[in-house]
Amino acid sequence: MIRLLGISGSLRTASIDSALLHAASSLTPGGAELSVYGEWGSLPPFSPDLEAAAPPSVLAFRAALADVRGLLIACPEYAHGIPGAFKNALDWVVGSGELSGKPVLTLNASPASYHAQMALLEVLRTMDARPVSGSPVAIPGLHRRMTAAEVLGQAEARAVLVAAVAELSRAAH
Ligand SMILES: Cc1cc2nc3c(=O)[nH]c(=O)nc-3n(C[C@H](O)[C@H](O)[C@H](O)COP(=O)(O)O)c2cc1C
Repeated sequence: MIRLLGISGSLRTASIDSALLHAASSLTPGGAELSVYGEWGSLPPFSPDLEAAAPPSVLAFRAALADVRGLLIACPEYAHGIPGAFKNALDWVVGSGELSGKPVLTLNASPASYHAQMALLEVLRTMDARPVSGSPVAIPGLHRRMTAAEVLGQAEARAVLVAAVAELSRAAH
């Protein structure tokens, strides 16, 4: 079984990015499974001084990443950048290297978001992850109040998600 992990760049309870990932988790091809990791919001502010004795929340985040063959990331844009809290989470695994060599497919829920998507790909490449060709995959026809069930009910969005998850699964094979 190919294990994949979905990570939303948003901590908002009703996040469309989180909804997308939960929708994607029910669309994996045979032989792959995708779980969504929602606990990174408890990570402390990153400091290199803390790396040697990283707190349990960091160890759990690293273990979740180490346990999978590929990642699906859906991230919003804040002030033309990656949300600071999510960049903080990524900073915790720059040195420990759990993303190194792993395929990562990024999803873009908003047609207005450009800068954050490009910045995220640059960060991922710098961390030695392998962005899957086509990233960021734009998901059409969404609005920020949609639930995972509503995303699954949108034929076009669902079809693009199915193709994206299949592509990531192939890359992680
Ligand atoms: C503080 C803040 C800054 C934002 N800045 C931008 C921006 O620069 N560009 C953009 O397209 N959307 C921006 N947005 C809108 C969010 O990207 C949008 O609402 C997105 O759907 C939120 O994702 P979520 O539903 O997963 O939380 C901003 C939202 C917030 C709260």
